[in-house]
Amino acid sequence: MTDLYALFGNPVSHSLSPKIHRLFAEQFNQDISYDKQLVEPGDFVRSVDDFFSSGGKGLNVTAPFKTDAYTYAHHMTDRAVRAGAVNTLAKMEDGTILGDNTDGFGLLADLTENLGWGVADRDILLLGAGGTARGVLGPLLEGKPKCITLVNRTFEKAWVLARHFTPLGHIEAHKIEELEPRRFDLVINGTSAGIAKGFNLDLPDTLFASDALSYDLNYSMEPTPFVQWSSHQVRACADGLGMLVAQAAESFRIWRGVRPDFISVIDQIRKRT
Ligand code: ATR
Repeated sequence: MTDLYALFGNPVSHSLSPKIHRLFAEQFNQDISYDKQLVEPGDFVRSVDDFFSSGGKGLNVTAPFKTDAYTYAHHMTDRAVRAGAVNTLAKMEDGTILGDNTDGFGLLADLTENLGWGVADRDILLLGAGGTARGVLGPLLEGKPKCITLVNRTFEKAWVLARHFTPLGHIEAHKIEELEPRRFDLVINGTSAGIAKGFNLDLPDTLFASDALSYDLNYSMEPTPFVQWSSHQVRACADGLGMLVAQAAESFRIWRGVRPDFISVIDQIRKRT
């Protein structure tokens, strides 16, 4: 029987995940089914119950349900606990549901394995202090950067997040007006500002060290507003497509026990979409 997987979220119509998982399954000649399902607010628990009770093996969960998935899971990995959010649910052999968060892993894998940008000893600026920023901070700090500086439109949220992650490494929250004259080796956009609203944090033009890099956790087939804004000031910039594919590869590994080659799939997706 074909093993069933799905993405639950709202919206999901433009998701690339079914395509990505089909390409992974092809690498191993495996027969899986991976659908996307639009879940109405308030309907998450019932939908997940239905999915697993009708034989489903694993789910990816995206906005706005990652904290619902966190509450749903029977047990969780340490990285999911740190992230406070779950993007992967897996049915275990004993029938329990494991919750994991592969987002931060995906970012690190894209940065280091695909792009070849080490994070060790780098001065990193992370913009944003919402769920996405929280999801990537643990794995980023495990990469042993020199310092992660957090800034956010609402400073207090950056401060709370920095406190939360202080045990894992050197992390500081700052107000945007305190950034000058500091320079950063890697600037990461973890705000949702890049998608619909245009990139509008009032950042100084002097953020980037010579040879700096920039990375947008958002992705799009066109250059994102953040990529457009930063591209003239850095040696290289990237959007979050590689992170999307790498986090999916880690979910696939959790479910199927084998880790796909995610780098070739990034190229396939860029060319085909
Ligand atoms: P996500 O799960 O995508 O992180 P979120 O938890 O709602 O969503 O967080 C969104 C992040 O983008 C926050 O850091 C938010 O800043 P605030 O905490 O001040 O709300 C940031 N953000 C959203 N729209 C923005 C905008 N127009 N300009 C600057 N920052 C913005």
